[in-house]
Amino acid sequence: MVLLWLKMETYILAIESSCDDTAAAVIRNDVICSNVTAGQEVHTLFGGVVPELASRAHQQNIIPVIDAAIQKANINKNQLSAVAYTRGPGLLGSLLVGASFAKAFALGLGIPLLEVDHLQAHILCHFIRNSDCSNPVPQFPFLCLTVSGGHTQIVLLRDYFVMEVIGQTIDDAAGEAFDKAAKILGLPYPGGPVIDELAQEGDPRRFSFARPNIPGLDFSFSGLKTSFLYFIRDELKKDPEFIEKNRNDLCASIQSTIVDILMTKIGQAVEKCTVLIPGNRLPDVAIAGGVSANSGLRNALMKARDEKGWNVFIPPLNYSTDNAAMIGITGYLKFRKGLFADPSLPPYARSRQRI
Ligand code: KG4
Ligand code: ZN
Repeated sequence: MVLLWLKMETYILAIESSCDDTAAAVIRNDVICSNVTAGQEVHTLFGGVVPELASRAHQQNIIPVIDAAIQKANINKNQLSAVAYTRGPGLLGSLLVGASFAKAFALGLGIPLLEVDHLQAHILCHFIRNSDCSNPVPQFPFLCLTVSGGHTQIVLLRDYFVMEVIGQTIDDAAGEAFDKAAKILGLPYPGGPVIDELAQEGDPRRFSFARPNIPGLDFSFSGLKTSFLYFIRDELKKDPEFIEKNRNDLCASIQSTIVDILMTKIGQAVEKCTVLIPGNRLPDVAIAGGVSANSGLRNALMKARDEKGWNVFIPPLNYSTDNAAMIGITGYLKFRKGLFADPSLPPYARSRQRI
């Protein structure tokens, strides 16, 4: 009976709508069949996500995006075994669009519902398998640095759903630090990818900025933002063209400072957690979330792999920033455990400490 169940093909429709991307994916067991994302251009005009506009855009996008995901997966909706959706954290109006659709769709098809935590999903994207299952996955217990627009956490995973936040930001998130620095430089939103691109041509040692001195494994980025802001303000007084003349070096320098702060803490976490593992093996180290797309962070992690022997896990770019594939794998892992959701569960806006 158990063997039969294990051999069963499970198709799950996954929906992500926590911020400004409307995304849907279909996953067959732990292999992705389709992964569709519609971004929302409208926010670039405002230099940040406008919640009201995000909800409206989700309403416009959700049916075409889900339709495309099901078609690309080449299945019929009646083949679906469950519907997974992001329950939180995120913008409530945005979450409600995905959650309401998921509930109605599951109810209509008479299949179970799976609620997924967005941050947990960013981490669990590392368990998505290639179609030939050739890709390695992290071994428990392992560490994950989750860095996104709203969160910066070091998480210790003892099992898929046994996660402990062992360090986190006490103010801004790493993605916010990138976005705010970009705004100071007059670059468009979201600033992280733009800084990353311009930094490729710049000198990361040209300028240095204040680094926080926070005890333990916690982070702080608000002091860095202030130091960057004051530095630019003072330099502009001397030369109004300071930003234009030094844009690439400024991007490279702020990026390398943020990456340095992240790598210092994850290094401390590796040391601290080595004792937890039989034979004092180094824990595997993963990164996840939008900022894990950053080339400076990815390179720093590869360097740690080569120089310190870390076993590292870096998500493909389309699983770094918000996507529904990560909701799909988390949904599948919950489906296997029979962790179904009550349709009356409300969304939540803020992160639950113990995810
Ligand atoms: O995970 P994500 O897509 O959405 C949230 O859950 O917040 O992360 C978005 C954040 C934004 O702050 C964006 O600027 C940042 O990820 N980001 C990057 C890069 N790509 C996205 N930051 C630095 N370098 C990148 N290449
Ligand atoms: Zn995210």
